[in-house]
Amino acid sequence: MICAVGITKSYTEGSNAVVALDHVGIEIDRGEFAVIMGRSGAGKSTLLGVIGGLLKPSSGQVMLNGRSLWSLDERARARIRAEEIGFVFQNAPAINSLTVIENVLLPETFSDKHRSIAGTRRATGLLEVMGLGAKAHAYPDELSGGEKRRIAIASALMNDPPIVLADEPTGDLDSETESQIMDHFAYLKRKGTTIVMVTHDTKLTAYADRVFRMECGTIHEVSSHAGTQQTKITNSGPSGRDEGKMPKSSVQ
Ligand SMILES: Nc1ncnc2c1ncn2[C@@H]1O[C@H](COP(=O)(O)OP(=O)(O)O)[C@@H](O)[C@H]1O
Ligand SMILES: [Mg+2]
Repeated sequence: MICAVGITKSYTEGSNAVVALDHVGIEIDRGEFAVIMGRSGAGKSTLLGVIGGLLKPSSGQVMLNGRSLWSLDERARARIRAEEIGFVFQNAPAINSLTVIENVLLPETFSDKHRSIAGTRRATGLLEVMGLGAKAHAYPDELSGGEKRRIAIASALMNDPPIVLADEPTGDLDSETESQIMDHFAYLKRKGTTIVMVTHDTKLTAYADRVFRMECGTIHEVSSHAGTQQTKITNSGPSGRDEGKMPKSSVQ
């Protein structure tokens, strides 16, 4: 489903070139939950941007369901981004002149789906999963950093994308909200969503089918058993839920 081959990405900083990705390859099957760990500056956000069609690699290819993402024209790539990829940015901007729920509804306007009562219901449900139900009609600048981050997660999930790319989505959240969001990701995974999540938090590898580590622009896969001493979870979340059963506040 996602296959990146020989990805190199350099940034120019003044007269220096910074190599953020050095021949990185990664292959993730449909419905897999992959976690990417690694120190700050290792290249995690850059890789996610390249896979998500946001950051053009200096060389290499990204195949997404058989299409070469970086060989398409910008319009075709934008369409794939809008309809197939839910991207949770590390520092997600919210539009301050729109309410929380209007921000969550935005991705719907960029896809073919029309704004609808069903859309509003879905956005409301997602905000409840994020613990933001009561803040739906507040404005983003009335919210804390962690709350704004949850607007970004809800927006990314609004169109029910088959691929979710999440850059440290639970970075500054309390542990209860974090579990609620991770349980929702586990539920999406069981429904067949492919998830690639960047995190610093070793305990979250418990949710992953596969764990990768990045170091200085390179990547390698670590076993979730040997690498992190965590139990690999396939069909049920860490709380031992049955497959297919929805977390109580999840959105279909
Ligand atoms: N826009 C940019 N311009 C110049 N250098 C950048 C830019 N974005 C990232 N880098 C550099 O690329 C490397 C990888 O960055 P990044 O992908 O953000 O790492 P991570 O997400 O793992 O912290 C770092 O050395 C960073 O300083
Ligand atoms: Mg980053």
